[in-house]
Amino acid sequence: MFFLKNYTLNLKILNNNKLLLTKFLRIYRWNPYLYNKPWFSTYPILVEYCGPMILDALILIKNIQDPTLVFRRSCREGICGSCSMNINGINSLACLKSIKIYGKFITIYPLPHMYVIKDLVSDLSNFYFQYKIIQPWLKPKSKPNKEFLQLKSERFTLNGLYECILCACCSASCPSYWWNHNKYLGPAILLQTYRWISDSRDDETLGRIKFLKHKMRLFRCHTIMNCSKVCPKNLNPGKIISQLKGSSV
Ligand code: SF4
Ligand code: F3S
Ligand code: FES
Repeated sequence: MFFLKNYTLNLKILNNNKLLLTKFLRIYRWNPYLYNKPWFSTYPILVEYCGPMILDALILIKNIQDPTLVFRRSCREGICGSCSMNINGINSLACLKSIKIYGKFITIYPLPHMYVIKDLVSDLSNFYFQYKIIQPWLKPKSKPNKEFLQLKSERFTLNGLYECILCACCSASCPSYWWNHNKYLGPAILLQTYRWISDSRDDETLGRIKFLKHKMRLFRCHTIMNCSKVCPKNLNPGKIISQLKGSSV
């Protein structure tokens, strides 16, 4: 409470001169143990007192204003994929989005069309289950004596695929996945499937393609392309899915 008072005081002092430096984060809150309905909390942020990214603002809010706010984060470098959330209507990584690019009011939701565990933490159990069933590991016919060798050109085919950090921003922006998330694999998992199909060291290509030959798993993609627009790693899952469709007919 002491910190909260102090912070409010600072807010007033600075506001006298630099009103523009205050931004407001309007954050979706949900705690099934407290209320039976979600609500919004709005927090003022003094941009001067905060690190540059949305994640910095969330950490500052949790440290100073409201320790009950819950969100996921780990690397704060766009590597772990933990801090995916919906910021002003677009699924993004909070650690890669600068506060400066947004206006005075910034609205943050958890990833859309997923069950919410608490506040900004979505339930990714189904997402990870789908990842598990594509068997995301090398399946060679025989094991090499030492390491698996690859030509440079073979390694090159993994570019645009291996960078996926499984943040789920793309899948949570896909309308087909919203309505059929328990059957359709969604762009992230399909991109991952293609990553293993493309790997020269893997010998399970036919089995993997056969697994996709199901009317729901792959062909529920209607080329809406939201997935490619939102990917924070600038990957193109929509294009990869088109290639997969071509290879499985
Ligand atoms: Fe995230 Fe992009 Fe991978 Fe989708 S393809 S899970 S948006 S990194
Ligand atoms: Fe969805 Fe992307 Fe296909 S948004 S419908 S997976 S092109
Ligand atoms: Fe790891 Fe944002 S905290 S990607």
